[in-house]
Amino acid sequence: MIREDFGTNFKWGVSTAAYQIEGAHNIDGKGKSIWDEFANTKGKIFKNQNANASCNFYEHYSSDIALLYELNIPNFRFSLSWSRIMPTGRKVVNERGIDFYNRVIDFCLELGIEPWITLYHWDLPLDLEKKGGWTNRDIVDWFGDYTSVCIKAFGDRVKNWMVINEPMVFTGAGYFLGVHAPGKKGLTRFLSAVHHATLCQAEGGRVIRSLGSNFNIGTTFSCSHIEPLHSTEKDHQAAAKADALLNRMFVEPLIGLGYPVNDLKILQRMETYIKSGDEQKLSFDMDFIGIQNYTREIVTHSYFMPFLKAKIIKADKRKVERTLMNWEIYPESIYHILKKFNDYKNIPQIIVTENGAAFEDHITDGKVHDEKRIKYLQDHISQVLRAKKEGVNVNGYFVWTLIDNFEWAEGFYPRFGLIYVNFSTNQRIIKSSGYWYRQFLQNINSKPLVQKSSEYLI
Ligand code: FCB
Repeated sequence: MIREDFGTNFKWGVSTAAYQIEGAHNIDGKGKSIWDEFANTKGKIFKNQNANASCNFYEHYSSDIALLYELNIPNFRFSLSWSRIMPTGRKVVNERGIDFYNRVIDFCLELGIEPWITLYHWDLPLDLEKKGGWTNRDIVDWFGDYTSVCIKAFGDRVKNWMVINEPMVFTGAGYFLGVHAPGKKGLTRFLSAVHHATLCQAEGGRVIRSLGSNFNIGTTFSCSHIEPLHSTEKDHQAAAKADALLNRMFVEPLIGLGYPVNDLKILQRMETYIKSGDEQKLSFDMDFIGIQNYTREIVTHSYFMPFLKAKIIKADKRKVERTLMNWEIYPESIYHILKKFNDYKNIPQIIVTENGAAFEDHITDGKVHDEKRIKYLQDHISQVLRAKKEGVNVNGYFVWTLIDNFEWAEGFYPRFGLIYVNFSTNQRIIKSSGYWYRQFLQNINSKPLVQKSSEYLI
C-alpha cells in the first residue's frame, strides 16, 4: 500500500481538539467552559487531572505546526474553543481569542498546510450550561450566532468546516451517564440534548452556507461496527438497537430519514421536544460526513440494562487484542462502517476525520518506538483502501492525533499522539509512527504533499 493508491485528491491529515491540547485555560480573556469546571471538580477525572495547562498548544502552536510541516502532513484539523472566542457563550466577542486562531490559521497557510476547523468539540461555555446547556432549545440560536462569528472571522481563509464533533459521545457521556462534562444524568436530559444537538448540526451547516458558497461543510460522527455476541434472535435485536443508538441516531435525521424510532422505541419519548417543522430543520445537505472509528462493539441482550436491554461486552472480557482504552483492535470495523455510510443514498462524500490508538509508549535513548501504533494505522488505512477500491466515496483520512494530550475522563495516560509529549517539561519527541507517517506521505517516487512554499526551518 502506497499513498498513490488513494489518488491525488485524497486528503491526509491529523486531528486535534481545543480543550485537549491548548491549555491556557484562563489566559487572554478566555471564559470558563464545562470542561474547565468538570475537570477541576474532585473525583471526575483519572487521578484528578485537568487540562488547565495540558500541552500548552496556546504558546507552542508555531513549533507544533512546524512539526506538522516536518512530518509532511498537509491537512490540520483542530477545534475552536467557544469560550475563548465568546467568554460567556453569547454576544461579547473576545478579540484576543480571535487573534490566537488567526495566528494558528495564518501560520498553517504560510507553511502550505490546510486548516480544517471543528466548531464544537465538547467545550461548551459554562455560562450557557447554567442556562441548561444542550437541554435548552435556545442553544440553536446561541450556536447559530457563535457559528456566524467564527465564519465571519476566519471564513476568508478557511474553506473546510465541521459543525459538531461526535454528538453521541458528548450527549451520552455528558447528559446521560454523567462521566463527561457537564456530568448530568438521566433519559430526559439525554433526549433533549440529542434533539438540540441534531438541530444544531443542521443549523450550523445552514449558517455556514448562508455566509459563502465556497465552503466545504461537514460534521463528524463516532461509529463502530456492531456485531451480536451469539447468533440468537435476542442478541440480533440487541445489536440492532445498539446500532440505531450509536451509529444512526444523528446521521439519519440529518440526511432526511428522521430518527430511527422503529429500531429504538425509546426515541418515541423525544416527541416532547420535537416542534412542528423540526423535521425539515433537522436535515441539511452536508458536503461531506466525517466518520470517526476506533474499534468494533460486540453486543448481547441484557434484561438488566435500562431502556436498551442490550449491553456491550468490553474487549478485556472477550480476551481480544486491545488498546489502552480497552478498545478491541479490529481494523475491518472501519471498512464495514465506510460501506454502511456509503449505502445511504444522500451522503455525497465521506472523510475519516479520526482514527488512531493509545498504547503504552516508552522513551528509549531519546526515542519512542511505537511499532504497535504503526501497525494499527497501516491496518486501518488498508481497510480504508479496500473500501475505496470497492467504490466507497471516501476522500480523506485524519490520524487521531498529532501530539499526546488530555484524553477526557481518562486524563493523560492514554497517549494517542504521533508525537510524544512530556507534560512536565512540554518537550516533544516525534515517535516512530510520526516518522512512518512522514515517509508514507512523502513516498519514494513522489513529492511531499506539503508545498514547501516557505523556507521555514525548525
Ligand atoms: C474521540 C474524540 C477525540 C478523542 C478520541 C480518542 O471520541 O473525538 O476527542 O478523545 O476519541
